[in-house]
Amino acid sequence: MERERWTSRMAFVMAAIGSAVGLGNVWRFPFVAYQNGGGAFLIPYLVALFTAGIPLMVLEYGLGKMMQAGAPTAFAKVKDKLEWVGWWAILVGFTIVIYYAVVMAWCWGYLYHSLFLSWKGRAEDFFYKDFLGLSDGPGKLGGLRLPVVVGLVLTWASIVWIVQHGVRRVGRVVMVTVPLPVILLAIFVLRGATLPGAMEGLKFYLTPDFSKLAEPRTWLAAYGQIFFSLSLAFGIMIAYASYLHERADVNNNAFITALANCGTSYFAGFAVFTVLGYMAHVVGKPVAEVVSGGPGLAFITYPTAISLLPTVPAVFGFIFFLTLLSLGIDSAFSLVEAAVTAVHDRWPISRRKATWLLSGIAFLGGLLFTTKGGLYWLDIVDHFANNYGLVGVGLAESLIVGYVLGAERFREHVNTDSEVKLGRWWDFCIKFLTPAILGILMVWSLAREFGSPYSGYPGWALLVGGWGVILLQINLGVALMSRRAFLRASLPASASLVAFAVLLKFLPPMWIMFIVASAVLYGGLAWSLSRARRGYEGM
Ligand code: PHE
Repeated sequence: MERERWTSRMAFVMAAIGSAVGLGNVWRFPFVAYQNGGGAFLIPYLVALFTAGIPLMVLEYGLGKMMQAGAPTAFAKVKDKLEWVGWWAILVGFTIVIYYAVVMAWCWGYLYHSLFLSWKGRAEDFFYKDFLGLSDGPGKLGGLRLPVVVGLVLTWASIVWIVQHGVRRVGRVVMVTVPLPVILLAIFVLRGATLPGAMEGLKFYLTPDFSKLAEPRTWLAAYGQIFFSLSLAFGIMIAYASYLHERADVNNNAFITALANCGTSYFAGFAVFTVLGYMAHVVGKPVAEVVSGGPGLAFITYPTAISLLPTVPAVFGFIFFLTLLSLGIDSAFSLVEAAVTAVHDRWPISRRKATWLLSGIAFLGGLLFTTKGGLYWLDIVDHFANNYGLVGVGLAESLIVGYVLGAERFREHVNTDSEVKLGRWWDFCIKFLTPAILGILMVWSLAREFGSPYSGYPGWALLVGGWGVILLQINLGVALMSRRAFLRASLPASASLVAFAVLLKFLPPMWIMFIVASAVLYGGLAWSLSRARRGYEGM
């Protein structure tokens, strides 16, 4: 059967931009920039964009187009045994969409509440207590929050409606969902710029603090933000590019997508900081005391600022949550599309059935996050998926293309039909720079993780929602590739890892050394003896 195709190049590029431009552009970039040197952050950010973001985007587009398949099959075509890397990417992405959809469910709820500015004056309490009904900790789930479940149904209904009909419909929908949030953001920039205090806000956003450039964490933040923001390492761009014609451009499309995404992030910073500057002006506090990032910005700080607007605050509230919904929806369905493409390429199941099946599973899984303790779990899963899943997959991808497929060969392939030709610098980035940076990011996060448990959550919750989920994703990834590899390799490896961790936790150091030394020495001896052939008589 002929593979589906995008209706136009524009449809493909817009869909890719739609995936990259998401909630993160509004609630993550401006805050990360402000924290890491303001205007000076743009230097590491742009360096990260050109040395890792665009090279990896070229890699994903190129792989998808070359193999004409979603991530698992694409990696299997590189080498049979590597299929699990593709599944791993898909599973990390699938985990993310399960809670991403819940965040969008909150947006639906707030779209409604903005009509009455229900949070007025007490946005924080309204969000945590009235809206989420937050429990005391991850151990207390305490029942579903019905309004959030309703929002979740709306989100999944939209996703299914779009994805089940294939990339042709995706291509039509993104013609609306990509420009719309940009136009809406522009409304906020214009409104914000004409308010008193706006300049103060912008000063915070853009005044360069060059001393931050000497701190490694600034650079890690820049690379982390670039990977997350470009939606890399979840198999999305591989899936989208697999519906490109075999002779389509790769490199220039990667430049366009990446620059459009980062341009939107930068622009969103103006919408955020002018309005926060105004708020600081009204409440008479310095801007530094009112800024925030993440869900706190979207559901507490910005809504508070909006309710202080001199004219029609409810309208601006409504527009703001409409912006978030239109930003999020194309990121959400791109994650589902990646999974549907993977399943549909691998098994004889129709796209429609695959969409319903996967969406059903993700919806049911999402119910966990709609409980009163859901926010805690969302936070834990999000932290681990981004710090280890994303980084791990990115590392694997660059090593595989750099060394197994061969960076130079791959570059020649993508250069053939591309409007912009890449030089040897690309090989260097994919073979050395990107893996090195991702490796450092991983080690750095691990060191922090063991130094102090994330956000002070109880150990068991981090084990289940963090480490457990990672192990599950990898094992399931291997199992989807082959049952035998799962039974013979990943299951025993994970079991020993778990056993080792348990030992580390409960045994006194003396016993640990005893076990490790004995295992290495005597186990090693047994292994080498078992491999030895009989004597040399007659040689
Ligand atoms: N890139 C999106 C953002 O910036 C987030 C995202 C990550 C979306 C991964 C899909 C997949 O918000």
